[in-house]
Amino acid sequence: MPDDSLHLPFVHDVLEREKATPGALLPVLHAIQDGVGYVPDAAVPEIAHALNLSVAEVRGVISFYHDFRTAPPARHTLRLCRAESCQSMGAEHLAAQLREQLSLDDHGTSADGQIALRPVYCLGACACSPALELDGRVHARLTPERLRELVNGCLEDGAC
Ligand code: FES
Repeated sequence: MPDDSLHLPFVHDVLEREKATPGALLPVLHAIQDGVGYVPDAAVPEIAHALNLSVAEVRGVISFYHDFRTAPPARHTLRLCRAESCQSMGAEHLAAQLREQLSLDDHGTSADGQIALRPVYCLGACACSPALELDGRVHARLTPERLRELVNGCLEDGAC
C-alpha cells in the first residue's frame, strides 16, 4: 500500500495553481493523476476543501470517470476494443477469454499490479479487427491464441 501522504506537497501545488479556474475539479484530478500516476485517497479531502466541495462530490467524480485511478497504475495496460467492427469480429469472445484467464472484470487490475484491463471504443484499426492496445502499442487481427500469448508475456516477465 503506497504512502499517499508523500504526494500531498504535489497535490497542494496543483491546487494552488488551479483552484481559481472555473470548473477546476477535472483539471485538478487530471493534473494530479498525470503527476502522481493516480489520485491518492489522501488528496480527496484536500481537493474538496480547496474547491469548496464535499468529499462525497469529489469521490463521485473520481468513480464516475473510469480513466481516474485510485491506486498506482499496473505495469501493463491492455485495452481491448469493444466497438462495432471489433465486436463483429469476435471482441466479446476475446473479452470473455481475458476475464477468465485473469479472473478480472473488464475494468480490473490484477492484485499484483502486473496488468490492468480497460475497454476502449475504437483504436482506428477497424480494417484489422479485432484489435487491442497493449502499453500503447496496437495489435490487430487478434486470435484467441495471440491474445493468450500477449497476456502470458505480461504475466511472465513484464516484457510485452
Ligand atoms: S472498432 Fe475496433 S479498432 Fe475500430
